[in-house]
Amino acid sequence: MLPLQTVAAILLGAAMSFESWCFVLPQQDPTDTLILVNKYNKAPAVPVALVLPKVDPMKEGGEANILMRPDAAAALEELFAGAAEEGMHLYAVSGYRSYSTQKAIFDRKRRERGERVANLSSAKAGYSEHQTGLAMDFEGESMLGKGLVAAIGESPEGIWVAENCWKYGFILRYPKDKTHITGYIYEPWHVRYVGKEASKEIHDLGDITFEEYILLKRGDRVQYLKEGETQDEES
Ligand code: DAL
Ligand code: ZN
Repeated sequence: MLPLQTVAAILLGAAMSFESWCFVLPQQDPTDTLILVNKYNKAPAVPVALVLPKVDPMKEGGEANILMRPDAAAALEELFAGAAEEGMHLYAVSGYRSYSTQKAIFDRKRRERGERVANLSSAKAGYSEHQTGLAMDFEGESMLGKGLVAAIGESPEGIWVAENCWKYGFILRYPKDKTHITGYIYEPWHVRYVGKEASKEIHDLGDITFEEYILLKRGDRVQYLKEGETQDEES
């Protein structure tokens, strides 16, 4: 017998059309660990308290790129330590990003790869989870310096993180084959802190996307957007 929540998640997923994922959660609490940031839900424009997690940055001197919210930083240290206990060395690549940093990343991607690829792989400024201080991109020793590429998902570190990050309060935010829901390509390197209760629930539900999880938990609060509408027009 499948747990009731799993059945609900499957039915929900099957019943949703692409447009059904275009919803906003009005007035989200910027300090909430379950804050939803995606193509339709903006990151709050309030300053976030940030600390430097005690982990190795990928680049020497890259500390300024790997700041996180204190709760997420503490959990990241545990995640990296858990990996180390299994003989795997993780490196932190990119944590908190300001609006202007995200803009520069998106603009460069658009210049180099075009609008379509940029939209599938990089958030527009204001719409990146990295602006919450709850997300981290990582690389593992076995593929160090090869960049943030899908093959990380097949590496020992990527496999270990995918299987174990929920125990530390993280989820893989952009799973394989979920672009129609998340709006982004598979990113096996991007972990998002949601807290241990939510990460366990998401894991127990079969690693559903964060969008599906939010609909299950907060479906009564969401407002659906009409085609072409954005959050800015809504509020
Ligand atoms: N690559 C993720 C979607 C971001 O830019 O936030
Ligand atoms: Zn990322």
